[in-house]
Amino acid sequence: MTLVSSLDACDLTNVPAHIAMIMDGNGRWATARGLPRTKGHEAGEDALFEAVEGCLAAGVQWMTVYAFSTENWRRPKDEVRFLLNFNRSLLRRRRDELNDRGVRIRFIGRRNWRVPRGVLNEIETSEALTAENRTLTLTIAFNYGGRAEVVDAVRDLVASGTPADKITETAIEKHLYAPDMPDPELMIRTSGESRTSNYLMWQLAYTELLFADVLWPDFTREHVYGAIVEYQGRQRRFGGV
Ligand code: IPE
Ligand code: IPE
Ligand code: MG
Repeated sequence: MTLVSSLDACDLTNVPAHIAMIMDGNGRWATARGLPRTKGHEAGEDALFEAVEGCLAAGVQWMTVYAFSTENWRRPKDEVRFLLNFNRSLLRRRRDELNDRGVRIRFIGRRNWRVPRGVLNEIETSEALTAENRTLTLTIAFNYGGRAEVVDAVRDLVASGTPADKITETAIEKHLYAPDMPDPELMIRTSGESRTSNYLMWQLAYTELLFADVLWPDFTREHVYGAIVEYQGRQRRFGGV
């Protein structure tokens, strides 16, 4: 699947309000060039900003990206340390630019478990700086796991004394990390892997899934347009006929 298209090819009356992305393939991108894996993560920064520009141009209002999973702690110590520092520095270096573009930065994930204070500070500063923006909400899933999110929601409900018959889908949704975030209409995973790797497990129940071969550092705004065109060719039924 090539997936590259232009904005002209998109029906602008039927653009997903929320596109979720799994930014995958950084390591393979670097290895293919004889570089250390960390160079692939660095190269992924431009791709992230390309994706943001694509969403802004198409009028997507919510974009969520998977930056670090609860399982990514299993990686070698050096790579984990690099990813923590890299995410912190990216926020510091580029939050003003995102703010100028009208982007609201938000985080979902476990904050009270393993994340160093220095990273949390940058997260909190970035959220506060951009809190009033509404053009595009860029949610960064960091130290995020879909199962952990559902567990955390149920724990909240139980801790607040919710009786069993009041633990409903609506009640769980209200206790997810971002209760006001609509479910994504479209989820794009790069790198050719066809799995969701514990991403937005609850929210993706009826999402259109798109697995593209492009490695994340090669992702461009044209891939966003191509994905929207592909989405517009899908028929969503939600269990009906
Ligand atoms: C995605 O790229 C970035 C993170 C998981 C943080 P990978 O690092 O998983 O790259 P591959 O999948 O090994 O190529
Ligand atoms: C998912 O990618 C997590 C992120 C992109 C942050 P992984 O590369 O960690 O997923 P698996 O291990 O291939 O399933
Ligand atoms: Mg990967």
